[in-house]
Amino acid sequence: MMPVRVLFVCLGNICRSPTAHAVFERLVDAEGLQHQIEVDSAGTGGWHVGAPPDRRAVAAARVRGYCMEHLRARQVLPEDLDEFDYILAMDHSNLQHLRSMRPRVDHDRLLLLLSLGDCEEDEVPDPYYGGEDGFDLVLDLIESASAGLLQAIRDSGQLEA
Ligand code: 4NP
Repeated sequence: MMPVRVLFVCLGNICRSPTAHAVFERLVDAEGLQHQIEVDSAGTGGWHVGAPPDRRAVAAARVRGYCMEHLRARQVLPEDLDEFDYILAMDHSNLQHLRSMRPRVDHDRLLLLLSLGDCEEDEVPDPYYGGEDGFDLVLDLIESASAGLLQAIRDSGQLEA
């Protein structure tokens, strides 16, 4: 079976989407699904291409035992929209940007990440210009939605028994 491919997308690919990448990848590993689910992340903007994650995001993640300093930012490509099975946007602006890159295709693989969690918010707020607290909130929201995402993938029947 082909691996299920999951892409997390935010604006810069240095705060929210690399955090989701690290959190979801650890969950996938813990469930022994590393050969069945591939995880990646990208940004709609190109300012930080090649850069490691924001040090505040790395520090907040490290407190919860996630390692993300090896990740490097890349910009989302139009082909990503064809090649990934789940494309998870952090906010409405990211979602609009992704839709506009492929205006004519069916967008059922393109979702707000928080549509899969049970939290009331539907966006992961951009923490870049805020304080350190923002990074903890990002982790809380992403951890909650990650469990929902894995359940959605299991429910889709795309994994081996
Ligand atoms: P992210 O946060 O989208 O969660 O990676 C941001 C990072 C950088 C910028 C904006 C948001 N920026 O404007 O450079």
